[in-house]
Amino acid sequence: MTTQATLAEVLTVEHHAIDEGIEKFVAASPGGPVREWAAPLVDAMEALRRHIYLEEMLVFPQLRNGPLMMPIMVMLNEHGQMWRQMAALEEQLASGDADPDALVAACRSMLELLADHNSKEEPVIYPHLDADMDEYSQSVLREFLDGGRTPDGWECARADAA
Ligand SMILES: [Fe+2]
Ligand SMILES: [Fe+2]
Repeated sequence: MTTQATLAEVLTVEHHAIDEGIEKFVAASPGGPVREWAAPLVDAMEALRRHIYLEEMLVFPQLRNGPLMMPIMVMLNEHGQMWRQMAALEEQLASGDADPDALVAACRSMLELLADHNSKEEPVIYPHLDADMDEYSQSVLREFLDGGRTPDGWECARADAA
């Protein structure tokens, strides 16, 4: 009998996969059409948006009435920062004459933000996914994790925060 991975494990694996996509882009030497060499970054940003979506829509609402209220507010603020950094990165990519050094610098700053965010989210929030979310919410989350997509036009709660 195989044991099902916990939700905390599944979401932690997503953190690592997103980091790895951005790191792969940082390590690659720029060449050829931007669309090609930036592919790992574009994929990582799509995965990060989906990850933020599922946390804000399927996880945080289940946990925010209680001792996690303050930590969740911090998480929402940091998601907003990531969201704006992704928008800026995409603008650079779309401009056609993207400066590779500037892109790499922006990615390093994104990796720092992610490391700081994940180092709090994993120990503070994630233990509650399996312990404190009701069974129905857990099953909705598991279903989404299996191929769910961020709805078109969705923006995170603090996307526009100053
Ligand atoms: Fe998060
Ligand atoms: Fe996360």
